[in-house]
Amino acid sequence: MQSEVSAPPRVNGGFLVFVAVVCAAIFAVNYARYGFAQDTFLWTIRTVVKQAFLFFTLSYIASPLHQWFPTRVSAFLMRHRATTGAAFAVSQLTAGACATTIWLNWPEIIHAISQPVERVLGVMVFVWIFIMLITSHRAAIDLLGRRLWSGIHTYGMIVIWIAYLLDYGRRTIEWSPYYGIFTGALLVILLLRGGLLLRRIVAPSSPARL
Ligand code: HEM
Repeated sequence: MQSEVSAPPRVNGGFLVFVAVVCAAIFAVNYARYGFAQDTFLWTIRTVVKQAFLFFTLSYIASPLHQWFPTRVSAFLMRHRATTGAAFAVSQLTAGACATTIWLNWPEIIHAISQPVERVLGVMVFVWIFIMLITSHRAAIDLLGRRLWSGIHTYGMIVIWIAYLLDYGRRTIEWSPYYGIFTGALLVILLLRGGLLLRRIVAPSSPARL
């Protein structure tokens, strides 16, 4: 019989609705302050991306943390990693909707902060996040096959990690050391996951699972 931690994770739909309501509330507060203006969308992005980042970190750190330092907290994160992953996607896609609105109404803002190639890659990452969200259930695993499903989700998380590192890394260097909190969290994940990979190379019989 599978333990609760090793059982395939399930997404808690109620929690996802709660996260969507929080995103809508953040937008509503900004709309009440600024109306239909760029600041509404910029401040919503700045807030919901941080929320997305928190959920991403909780989801992506769960497995390596549990393998290196198994505690009740790591077991809890393991059990709920599919839910935190989906909560990340809902929050980040809310930011994507705000970015699209800015792009359509005030394109000069998007042109000022990104190069064309970054915009193409950014849109591709959003599409990938959307695919990950709509395939976050058992029926999708059965439909796609475990190999394809695992590929989409495993490489998706790596791509998102890189996208965050590029954005927060640049902000840490060019804007403020405060963004180092986010860059630091990404490097901790890298350390834990890289360590597991190394352990698996050095001792192939170890039970490491990424
Ligand atoms: C074409 C696609 C994208 C567009 C148009 C876009 C647009 C924006 C805009 C307008 C901001 C606010 C800038 C400001 O603070 O003044 C922002 C912030 C940010 N975006 Fe994107 N973005 C895109 C894709 C992505 C992707 C794929 C990720 C990562 C998964 C990402 C991560 C971030 C982060 C980390 C911030 C900083 C949030 C903070 O203040 O903490 N973006 N983006």
